[in-house]
Amino acid sequence: MRAESGASRPQQPTDHDESALRAPETMDSNKPDSPRTSVLFVCLGNICRSPLAEGIFLHLVDRAGLSDRFEVDSAGTGAWHVGELPDARAALVASQHGVELASRARQITEDDLEHFDWVIAMDRENLRNIERIAGATGSDAEIHLLREFDTVNDGDEVPDPYYGGASGFENVYEMVHRSCEVLLDRLRAA
Ligand code: 4NP
Repeated sequence: MRAESGASRPQQPTDHDESALRAPETMDSNKPDSPRTSVLFVCLGNICRSPLAEGIFLHLVDRAGLSDRFEVDSAGTGAWHVGELPDARAALVASQHGVELASRARQITEDDLEHFDWVIAMDRENLRNIERIAGATGSDAEIHLLREFDTVNDGDEVPDPYYGGASGFENVYEMVHRSCEVLLDRLRAA
């Protein structure tokens, strides 16, 4: 169920949250045989920032003719919105820029840390939760903040736009787009 504006923020999953450890049934975790670079974008709810990052990165990959070289997905550290489409405000700002968002919210799993080559967090709270799961699995994924790749205020966070207005989503779109352009340049050169 989507939290209403003004509602208190749900709690983070704990070490005892078994749902964060369940493997998705369709996951191919055979990373060494994969010819593609796999990238997972992660935020809290997986309905605003990480679906935007996934959609923008896929759009840039497609525009560069590199669709066969990348596997792209997104997930949330929380489970409250699992199964939902992206937030309507995220979908609107994306479509205004010619980007379609096709994801359904899901929660990150331990298998994600085994499978994905790059795991990209929107903020430091996500980063801490990802690193906690990675530590439990012995993952060798590259784990970064998305804005390490931004040309403006690099190293900063992508702010959570959920409780704000449309301008927050445009701001998020622009910083995610800038960062994804640099991230793609980095990964295609690797
Ligand atoms: P996201 O935004 O992490 O960018 O998907 C949020 C979505 C939902 C909530 C918080 C942030 N929530 O509190 O339900």
